[in-house]
Amino acid sequence: MIDKIKNYIAEVEKFSASSQEEIENFRIKFLGKKGILNHFFAEFKNVPNESKKEFGQTINQLKNAAQDKVNQLKEELESKLEEKGVYGDLTRTGESIEIGARHPISIVKNQIIEIFSNIGFNVSEGPEMEDDWHNFTALNLPEYHPARDMQDTFFIQTDPDILLRTHTSSVQVRYMEDNKPPIRTISPGRVFRNEAISARSHCIFHQVEGLYIDKDVSFADLKQTLLYFTKQLFGKSKIRLRPSYFPFTEPSAEIDIYWGLENETDYRITKGTGWLEIGGCGMVDPNVLKNCNIDPKEYSGFAFGMGIERIAMLLYQIGDIRMFYENDIRFLEQFKSSI
Ligand code: DAH
Repeated sequence: MIDKIKNYIAEVEKFSASSQEEIENFRIKFLGKKGILNHFFAEFKNVPNESKKEFGQTINQLKNAAQDKVNQLKEELESKLEEKGVYGDLTRTGESIEIGARHPISIVKNQIIEIFSNIGFNVSEGPEMEDDWHNFTALNLPEYHPARDMQDTFFIQTDPDILLRTHTSSVQVRYMEDNKPPIRTISPGRVFRNEAISARSHCIFHQVEGLYIDKDVSFADLKQTLLYFTKQLFGKSKIRLRPSYFPFTEPSAEIDIYWGLENETDYRITKGTGWLEIGGCGMVDPNVLKNCNIDPKEYSGFAFGMGIERIAMLLYQIGDIRMFYENDIRFLEQFKSSI
């Protein structure tokens, strides 16, 4: 009989199972009420006294082996199920995770902020829904002033005093109303104009406004600041300020950078001149300072405004402004950047 038990021990040790059911059948076979172990325990009384000890030990060996086997198989099966069920197969090769890209407008905006913050400018913001005073009147553009026509405006129908801001110059006014000079601030933001959409223009776009107010600020300071900026952003070291007109600055100028004429694209984007316009600027008109409770006899300053899309199109050679707003993943994922 002892040999029989030993055979069972060998069988138990060899046993393996791949399902819950097989394990359960094995348990019933050995450890169940009518199982092999109980059968041997029942035999115990018939075993001759001199063999009882060895019989008892062997049968206990079988019991432990069977119990251990059941526990071990259950554990193995459970961990396999867990891997599959909760985490999937942990040995499979990893899937690469898509890393998002910042929008090119945000990248360029952040670059501009970085460049100006290095020379002491902070960042300010204002509302996109603006009132007439901040968008026009305070900027020396009173009602019926013909220069209002330069910026076709979306008005809010129920209130003719409220509109979608046509430029970020409105933030200048708000900043001067709330802060005393010295002022050094740039205001990036979204602006709106009632314009037909084409490859070159859109009814929603972005600008960055700059404002510097202090004692004895001169046109030379303006020019040096813009030169520093264009060197940093474009790596171009020649600019020119072309006389122009804006109601809120006097004198006013258009900012051109010398782009060069090295290849066909340079010819196309500069229309063969090598020069490119990137924005407007000027010395803040004394009327504007007065409107914001700053004494023009004590303080002077300069302001400038640039289109962010325009700059991004130049930097990344993008031929159509509409691409910025289409959210085409193939376009957007080309702008992986750390900024
Ligand atoms: N606000 C002007 C525009 O939207 C741009 C501009 C021109 C801003 C001259 C300025 C400036 O601050 O001085 O076209």
